[in-house]
Amino acid sequence: MPIQMVRTNPIEGQKPGTSGLRKKTAVFMRPHYLENYVQSTFDGIGGVEGKTLVVGGDGRYFNDRAIQVILRMAAANGAAKCIVGQGGLLSTPATSNLIRQRGADGGLILSASHNPGGPEADFGLKYNGENGGPATETMTDKIFAITKKLTDYKIAAASDIDLDVIGTSKIEGMEIEIADPVTDYATLMKSLFDFDKIRALFADGFTVRFDAMHAVTGPYAHAILEGMLGAAKGTVVNGVPSPDFGGGHPDPNPIWAKDLMDKMHGPVAPDFGAASDGDGDRIMILGRGIYVTPSDGLAVLAAKAHLAPGYKGGLAGVARSMPTSRAVDRVADVLGISCFETPTGWKFFGNLLDAGKVTLCGEESAGAGSDHVREKDGLWALLLWLNILAETQQSVAEIMADLWSTYGRCYYSRHDYENVDSDKANAVMDGLRAKLPSLIGTTVYGLTVEAADEFAYDDPVDGSRSTGQGLRIVFKAGARAVLRLSGTGTEGATIRIYLEQLEKDAEKLDLLPQDALADVCKAAMHLSDLVTQTGRSKPDVIT
Ligand code: G1P
Ligand code: ZN
Repeated sequence: MPIQMVRTNPIEGQKPGTSGLRKKTAVFMRPHYLENYVQSTFDGIGGVEGKTLVVGGDGRYFNDRAIQVILRMAAANGAAKCIVGQGGLLSTPATSNLIRQRGADGGLILSASHNPGGPEADFGLKYNGENGGPATETMTDKIFAITKKLTDYKIAAASDIDLDVIGTSKIEGMEIEIADPVTDYATLMKSLFDFDKIRALFADGFTVRFDAMHAVTGPYAHAILEGMLGAAKGTVVNGVPSPDFGGGHPDPNPIWAKDLMDKMHGPVAPDFGAASDGDGDRIMILGRGIYVTPSDGLAVLAAKAHLAPGYKGGLAGVARSMPTSRAVDRVADVLGISCFETPTGWKFFGNLLDAGKVTLCGEESAGAGSDHVREKDGLWALLLWLNILAETQQSVAEIMADLWSTYGRCYYSRHDYENVDSDKANAVMDGLRAKLPSLIGTTVYGLTVEAADEFAYDDPVDGSRSTGQGLRIVFKAGARAVLRLSGTGTEGATIRIYLEQLEKDAEKLDLLPQDALADVCKAAMHLSDLVTQTGRSKPDVIT
């Protein structure tokens, strides 16, 4: 029987989070687990009969096995074609681009982003639609509903496809094309940026250290930075994707990319440093002796994007996720363009980009992107920075000093409390939520509460409403604290506290962020009662 209908039972907890379904790898490898979710996805998007899908992942443990299953299931469900990245690799932004370039109907991305990989670590699967962007909430709700009543799935009996060899083959009537993961993406980058100017910058001796963190961006960075742009060999480090990311977390923040942080603050630091995450949509940016917060980075890109050929006409508008600092709002204000505030997660930017309301968007979690694809894009952000540096001939530190003196500095930090007992985490949120209305007008640690609410978003394009998107306390004089629970964790709950303080005094633009944020941090801790409720005295990760 070449196509089998396999009986199964619904599996609990297959609810897609901020970015697809993420679970422990061992959970994904349980009998029927992956198959149930793939069938529910196919059914949830209205079937795949006659459709073309792009399939690829970040190379983490189980990536290759999962792709073989997906291909056999796509064939059994009547898909016309699957385009797969060679070696099973495709970065998230490159997948988004391939879907768009090839006019595919959608794509499946195998990744748990910045979470660690390996048999004991994490795995994930997300679906992107025909615009190249993450499935909307309406779609993921439908998929989840199907997981709860699934009775069988379809899979073809076929031998493994060789994912390493470029070319075409077939399972049943479905064509499989193994494509180079880099080529189309590199062509897109070349169309947006002044590669000649950036090449000249490198020829002048400009130095970059790009840490691919043993994840998917290695091949892209080797080809674009060292190949097309002539950066010195060795510019890209940890550039070979490995199933367990060299034993680390492919999370580009000062904690997990400490080696890069140390180099950039050391005596012989390169001019520019960057690190990307597992699936290549996030990036951390550094200059010599300076770390750029993602929120500030977004503000810089908004202020200077017009220096790159792809954005020379200016920006239609910008968008940021709610917890992201309001630095970009200040730039948008001066540029006279609109700035949208959306819930956390890239899926909320899709409609704004599709409708042409925004050109650029970003999140505090090291993600920035534009209308060139429908995902955040780490290497894109790096190249835009290089284009800006090549045009202005300024250093990163000079660019930041300019930003702060022009718009004020939004000191910013995120404190994460990880693996908290879910009931306790909910108690923190419930307690604070109940208090919110009574806070307005009160003063805590010298900060007066101006507004306090639970964020809800009304999508201006499709009219959908998303509620429960984080608790925000806005203080007078530019301070703000936001609390929300992570939607991407695989164990317990993660409480995220986002702290922000605007500083306009020219004498105070060089403080240590945690010092500048001390009062707003104390106020957030006091109001949330987090220490008493959870027994935690300090955050696990500060970024
Ligand atoms: C996290 C980030 C969020 C990002 C998401 C997917 O989600 O905070 O900005 O879009 O990962 O990369 P969270 O765990 O906070 O729900
Ligand atoms: Zn990612």
